[in-house]
Amino acid sequence: MGNYVPFLILCYNELKYFYESRVIVMQVMHAASAISHAKAILIGEHAVVYGQPAIAIPIPTVRMQVELKPRADQQQRITSAMYNGALTAAATTRFAGIATLIRQLLIRFDAALQGFDLNIISDLPPERGMGSSAATAVAVVRAFHAAYAAPLDHAALLRWADISERIIHGNPSGIDAATCSADRPQWFVRGQKPRSLALPHTGVLVIADTGIQGQTRLAVQAVAERLKMDPASEQLISGLGLLTRQAAVAMADDDFKTLGAIMNSAQEKLAALGVSNHPIEQLVASARAHGALGAKLTGSGKGGCILALAADGSSAATIAAALTQAGATETWQYDFAK
Ligand code: PMV
Repeated sequence: MGNYVPFLILCYNELKYFYESRVIVMQVMHAASAISHAKAILIGEHAVVYGQPAIAIPIPTVRMQVELKPRADQQQRITSAMYNGALTAAATTRFAGIATLIRQLLIRFDAALQGFDLNIISDLPPERGMGSSAATAVAVVRAFHAAYAAPLDHAALLRWADISERIIHGNPSGIDAATCSADRPQWFVRGQKPRSLALPHTGVLVIADTGIQGQTRLAVQAVAERLKMDPASEQLISGLGLLTRQAAVAMADDDFKTLGAIMNSAQEKLAALGVSNHPIEQLVASARAHGALGAKLTGSGKGGCILALAADGSSAATIAAALTQAGATETWQYDFAK
């Protein structure tokens, strides 16, 4: 028996520590709110899934806000433009990815039965290539960590956001969450820490919505199938990677004429990959005809938004008006100089 005494003391101490630390980690949820914002991929979408670099711009004026409030009962209720109802009933809806993320966050905070109201207020149009699902994930993760006063570094934030992005998009590169949580343009390579890029000193981006839902999951799958059927399409992917590297140089030099030409070349390659469509081509043509230095789809394509580069604010206003005339349901502007 004497031989077992140290072992029993050790077990007792382990159990005591476990019990005490459980008491400590059983935290209380406080009301909290958190924000994130939209993003626009300047160049490199789709190719980024295959390890090529991409450049994406955060759009902080197009905001996502999440409010989280504890409830005295155990009801877990969601209010949003996409889904209204109980967390448990969201599994078969478009909200399933975010619902899974929320359940995992509740497990992380040892709060699976905690009642709450989660309210999502979004300026972002869903499924338009502006990062709506990633922005929601980022704000939800931030809100839960704020509600439990838990620290959250950027790498952990991106790992959490990847949970829902995987369910929603299948094979996400991670660029959306990285940019929806950043305040500077991002140089993004899959699997690497995103890097901030310096902003150019002039130029305005005009984003225009075709009004048609882009389907990221389907578009990414279509590109994967194309690469399988026709391995020569790999040249389009590496070509997009090269254009992205050239775009970074043009941005650093404030060389908007070259940047515009690079965007036009990227649009050609994306169309050859099969992710453009008629409404996108119409808006791209209209932007170019009205003074855009370059124009292309942004995000997954097959609908969603286009991006046009304007030399200055007055040119951007002309382009935005022309895009509305050509059928854009909404336009936004992002001034590099501001
Ligand atoms: O979700 P969207 O439309 O912003 O597209 C994301 C960009 C893709 O390169 C098409 C996919 C990805 O995960 O990088």
